[in-house]
Amino acid sequence: MQGSPVNIFPADRENIVRAAGILKSGGLVGFPTETVYGLGADAFNPEAVAAIFEVKRRPYFDPIIVHIADHEQVPLVAFTPPARIERLMAAFWPGPLTLVMEKLPSVPDIVTAGLTTVAVRMPAHPVALSLIREAGRPVAAPSANLFGRLSPTSASHVALQLGDRVDMILDGGECTVGLESTILKIGEGGPVLLRPGGLPLEEIEKITGKVIVPLTAADAIPEAPGQLPSHYSPSAPLRLIDGFDDIPPDSTNAGVLAFMTAPGNLRVKKIEVLSENGDLREAAARLFSCLHRLDEAGVDLIYAQRVPETGLGMAIMNRLCRAENRNGPPRHL
Ligand code: TXA
Ligand code: MG
Repeated sequence: MQGSPVNIFPADRENIVRAAGILKSGGLVGFPTETVYGLGADAFNPEAVAAIFEVKRRPYFDPIIVHIADHEQVPLVAFTPPARIERLMAAFWPGPLTLVMEKLPSVPDIVTAGLTTVAVRMPAHPVALSLIREAGRPVAAPSANLFGRLSPTSASHVALQLGDRVDMILDGGECTVGLESTILKIGEGGPVLLRPGGLPLEEIEKITGKVIVPLTAADAIPEAPGQLPSHYSPSAPLRLIDGFDDIPPDSTNAGVLAFMTAPGNLRVKKIEVLSENGDLREAAARLFSCLHRLDEAGVDLIYAQRVPETGLGMAIMNRLCRAENRNGPPRHL
């Protein structure tokens, strides 16, 4: 049965070893990272990677991030990176930063969608790191959701979307960061932000200096083919609001995603608050689970309050804009 929790297992030593065995024999494993849950396959096994695309119903033009557990694994997948990339690796790995590098021919084309580059990340999660080490090879893993839908921040989110089409789901609890990794490429003109994410831009700029941010958070970035404007969507349509006055009075079936607080007299079906203290880190960690809960409540529309676009707020707004875009051109642009 789809959504059945039968294939969820606690991420203890024994199950990690079993999961690594599944990866080595070409199977798929859902596993926790600090950002979101990943759907992993042996990065060097093109058939296994093809299964990721099938299970996620993901278009083949959308390349997949390769996860490693040790700096020594970089030369397995990429040419020696330039010094600027080395500095970022030293500063932020393991952590929520994905770096785009020149790909070695050993990485199957299906992983990179035929690009000459490969996106590489070392996750800061003990279960992810042990799984990759135990498997003894880099692990290709997109977020473990159906294409275009909300990323999972718990094992049960993975089971709800992918069910038993995954061979095993390792349960490592809630993801602490809650947003996908930041993706960065060093282009000819300098570092370019391909996706805002769990590592704030300000942190990166302390190391690299000014990072080029293509257009606004809501724009599609052609260089990261998965960055379609409709990504990261709950089932219900979403509208961004500046204030609660924007919510029409007849909204009893709507849901509200508030940043810090919502007025007590709002007549809506369900209200979720991201962070009562206005802590963007907490808001990021709770974003997808709040959206999942609004979906589960069966709301017909979600009104999402804007958050300040500093630090992790940039990535939060990016995800909200994309969710809104799914329903046609956004009204605020
Ligand atoms: O936090 C994360 O990054 C999570 C966890 C599981 O690690 N993974 C994740 O993967 O978010 P996914 O597949 O949902 O998003 C990966 C993004 C896609 O937008 C894809 O287009 C981009 O990375 N990407 C992958 N390889 C690329 C490359 N060589 N050049 C540019 N973008 C690339
Ligand atoms: Mg994804």
